[in-house]
Amino acid sequence: MKVPFLDLQAQYQTIRAEIAAAMQRVLDDAAFAGGPYVAQFEKEFAAFCQCQYALGVSNGTAALWMALRALGVGPDDEVITVPNTFIATAEAISLCGAKPVFVDVDENTYTMNPALLEAAITLRTKAIIPVHLYGQTADMDAIMLIARAHGLFVIEDACQAHGATYRGRPAGSIGDAGCFSFYPGKNLGAYGEAGAVVTNNAELAAKLKLFRDHGQPQKYHHTVIGWNDRMDGLQGAVLSVKLKHLAAWNQTRRNYAQLYRALLAGLHNVVLPREAIAGRHIYHIFAVRLPNRDRVMKALAEKGIQCGVHYPIPVHLQEAYHFLGLRRGGFPIAEKHAAELLSLPMFPELTTAQIDYVAREIKHGVNGAAA
Ligand SMILES: Cc1ncc(COP(=O)(O)O)c(C=O)c1O
Repeated sequence: MKVPFLDLQAQYQTIRAEIAAAMQRVLDDAAFAGGPYVAQFEKEFAAFCQCQYALGVSNGTAALWMALRALGVGPDDEVITVPNTFIATAEAISLCGAKPVFVDVDENTYTMNPALLEAAITLRTKAIIPVHLYGQTADMDAIMLIARAHGLFVIEDACQAHGATYRGRPAGSIGDAGCFSFYPGKNLGAYGEAGAVVTNNAELAAKLKLFRDHGQPQKYHHTVIGWNDRMDGLQGAVLSVKLKHLAAWNQTRRNYAQLYRALLAGLHNVVLPREAIAGRHIYHIFAVRLPNRDRVMKALAEKGIQCGVHYPIPVHLQEAYHFLGLRRGGFPIAEKHAAELLSLPMFPELTTAQIDYVAREIKHGVNGAAA
């Protein structure tokens, strides 16, 4: 049996007619860059995130960069984040001219460990970016408390957490801003590149609106130096269609996570993902921890099961960040996780037979690889 890590075509087949109609409307109206379909999606996504404003932008990296910039982060500033994230989180900080400062993550939730936060704060610290990794929100109450005590901004990297909640509040709505990626493989994925920033801060929203459109409040009148980070009209239309399905898709992911848990329970040497009591995980990624990860991954691939690793090298050990002078051993939990985590196939169009097969082969793989 073949089990892909992700099957975007399978999902497309379930919404083909809706997508075709939505795209046709954009084509008929030639509303390609920004425009009414982006505005409509922004309205819907703001409501979904229980935020006053949602600004559609070109991708999640741009969303993070623009939010930092709009909050005034610049050279000589430090921004605290985690090393076990996609590099975009750190890139956005670097692109502002600021320095990424890392704190290690919690052993069980894989998100920022607030107990380590205070020690990383300096006079230069301007903001904190917790990452809601794999679809699970970070410990936001503790992070917000520390941030407010030190006068720091909080930007949620919610690029993997569309529809996740923390104490009932949607991911992205808790900090000063929440940044989302709609990269095609995300729980809410566009048919190309797209992203958004959500916020309840009117001033911040106004700045973001300017920045994403060359700093022009009015055509060819540029009040600040901006950039071109508008969302495409076609992506806005696709995202409006897909947003209607997101709650059901997320619920299916949660059901499949339960099934994986039941099938893999009690297996020696397999650590299952933990769900924090305060959060509702939406399983963008279902990752298990295995001491012999690479051998199991290879064994699964030989059986037609495609897995992923998110992420094999923590950001502080990436070549691009050698200049920070951070060494192996600095963030032991993130480093251990990078060596052990294996992302199993997880998407709403999987079948229970496929999940059954993956679980069975993991049992064989774990036993075989241990030998
Ligand atoms: C945690 C995290 N941050 C940022 C990004 C960047 O988003 P994008 O790929 O849309 O630029 C991603 C997406 O890959 C992500 O997973």
